[in-house]
Amino acid sequence: MSERKPQIKLGLSIAGHGYHHSAWLHPSVPPEGINEFGFYLDLTRTAERGLFDMVFLADFVVFSMVDVPKGVLGRSSRGSFEPLTLLAALAPQTECVGLVATASTTFGVPYHVARSFASLDMLSSGRAGWNVVTSFQDEEAANFGSATILEKSSRYDRAEEFVDVVLGLWDSLAPDAYVCDRQSGYLFDPAKVRTLNHVGRHFRVKGPLGTPRSAQGRPVVVQAGASEEGQELAARTADVVYSVQPRLETAQAFYAGLKGRMAKYGRDPDHLKVMPGLLPVLGGTEAEAKRRFREMQELIDPLVGLRYLSAIFGDLSGHPIDGPVPELRKDKQLATRAQLILDLARRNNWSIRQLYESTAIGNTHNTVVGTPEQVADVMEAWILGRGADGFNLLPALSPLSVQEFVDEVVPVLQRRGLYRREYEARTLRENLGLPAPPTAH
Ligand SMILES: Cc1cc2nc3c(=O)[nH]c(=O)nc-3n(C[C@H](O)[C@H](O)[C@H](O)COP(=O)(O)O)c2cc1C
Repeated sequence: MSERKPQIKLGLSIAGHGYHHSAWLHPSVPPEGINEFGFYLDLTRTAERGLFDMVFLADFVVFSMVDVPKGVLGRSSRGSFEPLTLLAALAPQTECVGLVATASTTFGVPYHVARSFASLDMLSSGRAGWNVVTSFQDEEAANFGSATILEKSSRYDRAEEFVDVVLGLWDSLAPDAYVCDRQSGYLFDPAKVRTLNHVGRHFRVKGPLGTPRSAQGRPVVVQAGASEEGQELAARTADVVYSVQPRLETAQAFYAGLKGRMAKYGRDPDHLKVMPGLLPVLGGTEAEAKRRFREMQELIDPLVGLRYLSAIFGDLSGHPIDGPVPELRKDKQLATRAQLILDLARRNNWSIRQLYESTAIGNTHNTVVGTPEQVADVMEAWILGRGADGFNLLPALSPLSVQEFVDEVVPVLQRRGLYRREYEARTLRENLGLPAPPTAH
């Protein structure tokens, strides 16, 4: 009997109008969509029609009013809804798709995060996930009482403890804590409630949390930091890692490296799913896909393209747009993504313009331009080559790119035996093929 092929896991990363930085200028994209619930509901239902494991909402806690380069303000796409609130509204309108929201360990406190996600997990009958981020922008810090963001090692030091507290709080109630026994008069059994009594360097949290264990035990933990510290946190605590991997060779190294870190925490490498971003641009033929890609390139607003780079490299207005990318500002410890972008520019000897043209669709994630078969070929090669367990689909244009992927690529993956034909289960954890989480009870 032939062995069953590995099954691709899929997430949809919903980012407003799409991952093309000027997506909202495209005639297929409704500009007001990002402020309308129906837009997100349609995207989520399309993902569910495509049997996706989850939809994923990135989040940054700032509405930037920095006008760099000058004149850019008001020209770029934004997200509008607070992710957990939005997912709570999507929960009763969907059945099987996982609902993952981003929440920052730098600006939040563990009790609130634990409680909100546990509630979403109850509301969705075991489909919630928390994307743990440490945040990195000064502009975000300014909304939380400080002018600059904590430096990276302090952020991760806090994040390590933060995640432990949240996991501890999620384990407050034993699965059978609610006895509802009218005879004895006990609604819940106090012996089945754990008080956390956490005292650490960053937090003192007594607990317990009153939210019962959900159908999947506790929310799925997603992690997106790629630095040394980020990978260590993920190896110890994450169920899913969302990464930026533009090339198979580096993806394989990242995949092996991350899974290799898990043994020292007593974890099985299969219990962490690595899902790099994937941005397909589809066409009936390769030539058509390339034409559509060029059309998208023509939509790029140069100011918006520069804005993305300026956020990383500082104001580039003084530098010739067709000249080389200047040395990075030295005042900040660089986020892993910024280093990746700089390496890309240096490796290809790109000018500032060439760099923003290449990052304006997909932020350096793996962009594949081709037919549905060609996109499926890449996905298959990455899965069989142990570069990924699945992918986070990054639609260039929403909702069009999501619909195209579901209608055109999903059937190819199914025919090849690489993707489910129906959901295996109702919970996110089970669909991802992850075991029930441990409990101290
Ligand atoms: C694929 C991916 C998605 C991310 N999404 C978010 C996000 O939605 N919000 C956020 O504040 N940070 C996000 N981050 C940032 C990281 O969580 C982390 O704070 C940042 O990358 C700096 O840490 P690092 O050097 O470990 O990557 C994301 C990072 C990656 C790689």
